[in-house]
Amino acid sequence: DWTMAGYREQAIAAIREQVGNAKVICGLSGGVDSSVAAVLIHEAIGDQLTCVFVDHGLLRQGEAEEVVTMFRDNYNMPLIHADEQELFLGELDGVSDPETKRKIIGRLFIDVFQKHATEVGDAKFLAQGTLYPDVIESVSFSGGPSVTIKSHHNVGGLPEKMGLKLVEPLRELFKDEVRALGRELGLPPSFIGRHPFPGPGLAIRCPGEITREKLAILRRADAVYIDQIRKHGLYDDIWQAFVAILPVRTVGVMGDGRTYDFACALRAVTSVDGMTADYYPFSHEFLGETATRIINEVPGINRVTYDITSKPPGTIEWE
Ligand code: XMP
Repeated sequence: DWTMAGYREQAIAAIREQVGNAKVICGLSGGVDSSVAAVLIHEAIGDQLTCVFVDHGLLRQGEAEEVVTMFRDNYNMPLIHADEQELFLGELDGVSDPETKRKIIGRLFIDVFQKHATEVGDAKFLAQGTLYPDVIESVSFSGGPSVTIKSHHNVGGLPEKMGLKLVEPLRELFKDEVRALGRELGLPPSFIGRHPFPGPGLAIRCPGEITREKLAILRRADAVYIDQIRKHGLYDDIWQAFVAILPVRTVGVMGDGRTYDFACALRAVTSVDGMTADYYPFSHEFLGETATRIINEVPGINRVTYDITSKPPGTIEWE
């Protein structure tokens, strides 16, 4: 793509010009935007860039390893892997209100990011994968702070607080252009095509109290569901798909005995920008096969439902 090749050259020159010899830190979530921003900036300034990846214990199966392997080993980027699962899950223990959950996660995220950013020393810039739509729209999630900084982490006000200037090389791009730039930079297609994943992660897919037991069950069910979607070649037709574990146990039968396990809901939507969405019209065969697999492969779940709510009036996430 010649346009993106040109954009890449221009952006690299602009980043070099803006930051000079200064150090830059970048919050890496593993999402498309922050990944493309990090790779582009790394190409421009090499080891002047350090990425901070915060593992809040609310990531999907294998996600932390994937991100760390990809950026540290494949791209050779200085990367701080902040394993803060105990901290986040500890503070979330017993909390069931969705807005309180988001606030706790947002606050801890800032603390952790700041703590690790100081390890880098005298960083002068904070890099973000802010896109053009983020610039023109002030996005506000229910319960989250209204965000001027990349919404993914719910960390409004962080650069000011840390005295850092912003580097935002994707500010002029739309999502499809960021994906094209990512391809131009050689990011694997599996990364570029990833569904969006919310900053608070699995916390908002586990309505009510978060427990380690529920998170473990949710991770396994979600992995089976996404595997089904990929196997049927549907992943790229869907904007976002995930499992939510419901805060209710229901009765089932297994062999001669009864079970009393969690119910879960499958969610899959099509959307252009996440502002409105339609539920995805899976075939009954697909749904039946997926339910059978989840119940057979995931101990702790004995009932599977499919969420057929569109947005509005529903939201994409369950909290
Ligand atoms: P809803 O559930 O509001 O989601 O229809 C719309 C899009 O936003 C994502 N989402 C969030 N992203 N922090 C985020 O970074 C949040 O608190 C949050 N809540 C929802 C959601 O995954 C969907 O893509």
